[in-house]
Amino acid sequence: MNRIFSTIAVLSVAILSMATVHSQTTANSQVPPLLLGAAWYPEQWPEARWDADLALMEKAHLHVVRVGEFAWSSMEPTEGHYDLDWLERAINLAGKHGIYTVLGTPTATPPAWLTAKYPETLRIDENGRRDEHGNRLQYDWSNAKYRALSRAIVERLATRFGHNPYVLGWQLDNEISQISTSDGAHKQFQDWLQKRYGTLDNLNTRWTTAYWSQSYTDWSQIPIPRRGGNPGLMLGWKLFVSDTWRGYLMNQIDVIRPHADARQFITTNTMGFFDGYDHYITEDVLDLAAWDDYVPNGKIDPVRNGMAHDITRGFKRKNFWIMETQPGFVNWSSVNVSLKKGDVRALAWHDIAHGADAVSYWQWRSALNGQEEYHGTLVGADGTPVPLYPEVQQIGAEFEKLGPVLAGTHVDTDVAMLHSYESRWAIEWQRHTDKFDPVAEMGRYYGPLHEATQAVDIVAPNVDLSKYKLVVAPALNLLTDADAKNLIAYVNGGGNLVLTARSAMKNGDNGLQPERQPGPLAALLGGRVEQFYALPEPVPVDGDLLHTKASIWAELLSTSSPDTKVVLRYGKSNGWLDGQPAVISRRVGNGSITYIGTVFDDAAMKTLTEWLLSEAKVTKSKLVVPEGVEASVRQGNGKTLHILVNFADKVETVTLPSPMIDEMHDKHTVREVVLPVSGVAVLSEPR
Ligand code: GLA
Repeated sequence: MNRIFSTIAVLSVAILSMATVHSQTTANSQVPPLLLGAAWYPEQWPEARWDADLALMEKAHLHVVRVGEFAWSSMEPTEGHYDLDWLERAINLAGKHGIYTVLGTPTATPPAWLTAKYPETLRIDENGRRDEHGNRLQYDWSNAKYRALSRAIVERLATRFGHNPYVLGWQLDNEISQISTSDGAHKQFQDWLQKRYGTLDNLNTRWTTAYWSQSYTDWSQIPIPRRGGNPGLMLGWKLFVSDTWRGYLMNQIDVIRPHADARQFITTNTMGFFDGYDHYITEDVLDLAAWDDYVPNGKIDPVRNGMAHDITRGFKRKNFWIMETQPGFVNWSSVNVSLKKGDVRALAWHDIAHGADAVSYWQWRSALNGQEEYHGTLVGADGTPVPLYPEVQQIGAEFEKLGPVLAGTHVDTDVAMLHSYESRWAIEWQRHTDKFDPVAEMGRYYGPLHEATQAVDIVAPNVDLSKYKLVVAPALNLLTDADAKNLIAYVNGGGNLVLTARSAMKNGDNGLQPERQPGPLAALLGGRVEQFYALPEPVPVDGDLLHTKASIWAELLSTSSPDTKVVLRYGKSNGWLDGQPAVISRRVGNGSITYIGTVFDDAAMKTLTEWLLSEAKVTKSKLVVPEGVEASVRQGNGKTLHILVNFADKVETVTLPSPMIDEMHDKHTVREVVLPVSGVAVLSEPR
């Protein structure tokens, strides 16, 4: 993003100086490298109020607003009659206050005239009921008429704002997620399957439809799996859903790009761990990754939240945006607990630490009516600041001050974790033990890896992995042939690959691999999984490295190659496992492949990851922080920046391994940092 931003900055200056649009020159004619912002809905307020709101935003050092994503009825009050003048006035007025705009396409909320006239555009839910007007995301994402209507409004917007100097980029729709089981979607699914499988014979074989008499003799017989079904069918449906979302986004991108300056990015706001579709399929067509980061219970879990950041960063493998986050509290949980004083700031810096370049609050001010009257805001219904406002103002001032320091930096690491929606789905659909949660399993590895290295990438299994010394693939249950080839090439090229429990059991059709786990990687490993067991209680695991207990899942491993080493063995447990290998590892040239067949607790994971890191010759960070303090690194432009955030509930002192420059406090050189509760430090290594 920083590269994009510097381009934007240069272009913005050029465009602003030439501009003949009504826009006035902004106080800030350069886009700041770190942006703080809020969702602003000018259509909900009298125009006479706009300037006062924008002045309050400016005072809080906000430099971006997210506008328009629910405003279709204000933009196109009746079919084919557009009113975008108010929007242009709002964008340009914000620009006058030094505030740039991310323009939302309004397709998450079709207007009443649309759904009344074209009821076929409404989604059919899993129970066969047609959705109604009055909420949002009630459209059918596969419907051609809805696509045509969306295209028309989006093209209007692009034509009008594609060259507006204050518009930084586009957010398509909002939290895309709701799908439809309409007849139209069903037919498209059958056509999609025909394209994927070619013949019914091929599909029947690959899905093993002889099982339970599921064989199909006509494409039209293939159902939508509304309440479960054949794993091949279920995977096919999810991939169709993902491809249809990609088409849904492309429908809008196709009419934005020809009218928009290249500097304007196109994104959509995703939702962390949400797995309704394969985001690697959709993000491929976007320029920037962004997600909406909410902490409904008010208690930030830096490991889980950090992992969601890093998944999002991995979509485009570059810096990302927090498109929404809570000003204190949300309104949609069972108990909507506010973040404690100081934690909104802590969260903002934790975002930046993981590679965000923008943090935008949802929302600036509550609408006077509507479904979200209780949600946290930055100003009250009366239009004056809420108690959180000064904290946000502080963040804004810090972003302004430290923006130039962080410009051009990103997370750079030689440790990656693999993340696969297909594997998560495959496990979710056939858990075998409800205690095995694929996201929790990722967290078990992510926590200690991040603690040791302070920077971890999370990427899809099909990307070029050659830059990483260590790649950990937690529960990579479904392995396509192409991904298997990628992993084999990585190890043969000197990489260190770690597979964990439940790896490589399924093939690309979500069927069982014909070889035992890890399927196509078993030969490289010189070992395999003889059997898997769901554990009712912990079992002992021993070796030179560890004396501990494992739980939830245990795979009985074996070695077939003399150079595959047994690292840990099970102790006495269910008889089958007693004395058998639990962790095995094999050196392959300069690389290695390791299989960890069970689930360890946090203490054991710490030792195990230390071992994995040292085997892969990954240098651990020299900056050691007390428990509860998160340390992260951003690098670039010859700079190394350490960002420390204290999530512990007491003051913590961090002794630095070498003198560093305290970027927040007058660039003093420091050897020690005292972090109050929720405290933040941004330190740079002297060049
Ligand atoms: C989501 C939506 C927003 C808003 C917030 C409230 O993230 O995208 O429009 O409803 O939730 O938390």
